[in-house]
Amino acid sequence: MKRMLSGIKPTGQLHLGNYIGALSHFVEYQDEYDVYAFIANLHCITVPQDPEELQRNLRDCVALYLACGLDPERSTIFLQTDVRAHAQLGYIMCCHTYLGELNRMTQFKDKMAKGEKNLSGGLYTYPSLMAADILLYDADYVPVGEDQKQHVELTRDLAERMNNRYGKLFTVPEPLVPKVGARIMSLSDPTKKMSKSDNSDKGCIYLLDDLKKARKKVMSAVTDNEARVHFDPELQPGISNLMQILSSLSSNRPMGDIEAEFEGRGYGDFKRAVADKVCERLDMIQTRYREIVEGDMIRKALTSGAEKASKIADAKLDEVQKAVGMEIKY
Ligand code: AMP
Ligand code: TRP
Repeated sequence: MKRMLSGIKPTGQLHLGNYIGALSHFVEYQDEYDVYAFIANLHCITVPQDPEELQRNLRDCVALYLACGLDPERSTIFLQTDVRAHAQLGYIMCCHTYLGELNRMTQFKDKMAKGEKNLSGGLYTYPSLMAADILLYDADYVPVGEDQKQHVELTRDLAERMNNRYGKLFTVPEPLVPKVGARIMSLSDPTKKMSKSDNSDKGCIYLLDDLKKARKKVMSAVTDNEARVHFDPELQPGISNLMQILSSLSSNRPMGDIEAEFEGRGYGDFKRAVADKVCERLDMIQTRYREIVEGDMIRKALTSGAEKASKIADAKLDEVQKAVGMEIKY
């Protein structure tokens, strides 16, 4: 069985973009692949966090993994810090990453370009740690949203570099980016990505948003004056974004189908249909979430996940250290 691995940073609350671009696919792939899904709590401290808030977000993030359908019986769900090998291989990967490569990473470049002050060294070397996350498990596939594709491509380069230098150490992974929904845009500004760090709360639907609030966000989403439901991300970014949301939440319903259904009808009708779908899915997730936080499922899932993941990761780290010549042979 092919192996699949991915992670999400517990910075802030998970949102619909995380769900549609990444988390819903981890769940779907459980039937086909050996799924490893972790919470990237090392990656999240690359930007400042409030400790209490982070703790709450961590717990919610695991609970939402489970509530969205990740099944600890079939998949390995774990916290990144519970498997010490991530930080250690992360350092080794960092020593094999060129400054030029890190300088080219758009996520870091964007933050620099915005003139953000006091960016950390961790943020700069983040892609090397992400490579370690993936390579520790010899993952074949990495399902991610569009914004993470470049990091997975760097991981491929690093894997090939080390395989050439030390002999075959790593499986070279492939990114899996969904055709629809890889980049869900903000509802209040459809030229920007829906993001946890969205300044305006209106543009981002959180998975734990009150349903009335979520409905209101959809109904007041920014659209245009074209007065037709038509898929054209350039000319009609707001409507196209809502279409992507509707399509992804309806088993990738074709855009032509959605266009036909709403031909000659107003945006009000269309938005109501999107809001209904969003609220229906959120309701399902939230019901399950409430059961999970009341029970003992989080602790159990993470304990068995850490144990299973550590075995694989520790063995790989050992293999790498031997190949690089960092261990003494007795
Ligand atoms: P992050 O919240 O940055 O840890 O992202 C976790 C996963 O969600 C990654 O695979 C991202 O690519 C994906 N993701 C984040 N924001 C969006 C978005 N607006 N649309 C689609 N996927 C997203
Ligand atoms: N960098 C990813 C993000 O911001 C999170 C992440 C960390 C990840 N390590 C990973 C995703 C390994 C996939 C595989 O979304």
